[in-house]
Amino acid sequence: MDSYDLVVIGAGPGGYVAAIRAAQLGLNAACIEEEKALGGTCLRVGCIPSKALLESSERYWEARQELGRHGIKLGNVELDLAAMLKRKDTIVRTLTQGIESLFKKNKVTRYAGRGRILAPGRVAIEGDEAGEITAKHILIATGSKSAPLPGVEIDGNRIGTSTEALAYPEVPKHLIVIGAGYIGLELGSVWRRLGSEVTVLEYLDRILPGMDGELAAEALKTFKKQGLNFRLSCKVTSARVDEQGCVVDIEGQEAVRGDHVLVAVGRVPNTVGLGLDTVNVECGPKGRIMVDEQYATSVPGIYAIGDVIGGAMLAHKAEDEGMACVEQLVAGYGHVNYDAIPGVVYTQPEIASVGKTEEELKEAAIEYRKGVFPFVANGRAKALGQIDGRIKILANAETDRVLGVHIIGPRAGDLIAEAALAMEFGASSEDIARTCHAHPTLAEAFREAALNVDGRAIHI
Ligand code: NAI
Repeated sequence: MDSYDLVVIGAGPGGYVAAIRAAQLGLNAACIEEEKALGGTCLRVGCIPSKALLESSERYWEARQELGRHGIKLGNVELDLAAMLKRKDTIVRTLTQGIESLFKKNKVTRYAGRGRILAPGRVAIEGDEAGEITAKHILIATGSKSAPLPGVEIDGNRIGTSTEALAYPEVPKHLIVIGAGYIGLELGSVWRRLGSEVTVLEYLDRILPGMDGELAAEALKTFKKQGLNFRLSCKVTSARVDEQGCVVDIEGQEAVRGDHVLVAVGRVPNTVGLGLDTVNVECGPKGRIMVDEQYATSVPGIYAIGDVIGGAMLAHKAEDEGMACVEQLVAGYGHVNYDAIPGVVYTQPEIASVGKTEEELKEAAIEYRKGVFPFVANGRAKALGQIDGRIKILANAETDRVLGVHIIGPRAGDLIAEAALAMEFGASSEDIARTCHAHPTLAEAFREAALNVDGRAIHI
């Protein structure tokens, strides 16, 4: 029987990064993954393919709607959806194969199959390469799966999750999206740009719950301008397929008809069949595995990170936890700063956030000052032709320490990195305001927002 220092179950961004980091630190590491391709939801059917389609669909939209404004005249612009999907698949293949190479380079042993914990230190591999291995430490990094919605039966064709919506073979005439969160808005945007009528049904009275309310309201206006239809405060009671297509029933409202339904109402931890009951690993609300600051579960020698534990279900959070967990095992230290984990919605414009929202600060009765700067007053945004949006910095009223940054606008997903770095170093808004920013860049808007915490922005 093969024996390891660490066996990781799941090769998503949390698991594969943990296995590589463990190998770097001198551990004999193995990783069990049931899917043929490594990389987890993020690489196979999540972050990466959706970004590939967002990029392609944006180019198509630009070619049809925007380039004329730049003085570029095009002939007939046509969509080759098959080529667009193939490009996405190639990107996914290259990246997932890249992880195989990284495993080889770092001497991480890969097991193809489903991992099931038999006892602390013992894991069964089920599938073609069935067997059993032993390990000093077991790390669960099995991620999450789409949350089901009562009354809605996923048929994997007309009514599906993000996996199906990343590969519709034809542009839907009318796509009904249930849930105005990250997935619903990103994939709703993709198909809207490619020509679908898109209706987003959201249970709450706002979109993007958890994100800064002011930005979410601005985003809603922008998405409506782009032609997405929204029905807020609506409770979906069922979705079904009949001869004419799909019907989605809403409590107290008229049903909506379309030809595809995307269910995007959140994700739930993926723990089924892992053997957690056998070894008595304690789980909390919504089936999430309970861990302490070292990512240790209630059973000695078994750890868990990423979407299967609490907190934001984000690839980069899982990566950081994977590294911190392994570093703690080997070196006794390693940590994740949960106050500085950025979140990005890759729509157009992008929406990005790090730290506390105004709502959270108010609820915690923390006094803050706010500096806002709109992209309309930024030279680079004008040159790009993307002037919608703004940057908002929230700083502690007493100490001036930055507590939160919220951006809606061009390249917000890249701009938020500077904010996360500033917060990681405990920066004040004054520190940012005193940092020289190249001209003309979008990042200047960040500095202007910092200046405006003190009401002294130059360009407005
Ligand atoms: P989400 O939690 O972002 O949004 C789900 C939305 O569905 C919420 O607005 C919720 O109020 C709504 N909802 C719930 N039940 C409903 C019902 N019965 N009827 C109508 N609306 C309902 O979840 P989403 O978009 O499915 O994404 C799942 C996870 O994947 C998230 O945790 C997100 O962090 C992650 N993700 C991250 C991305 C990124 O970083 N860019 C991209 C895609 C997903």
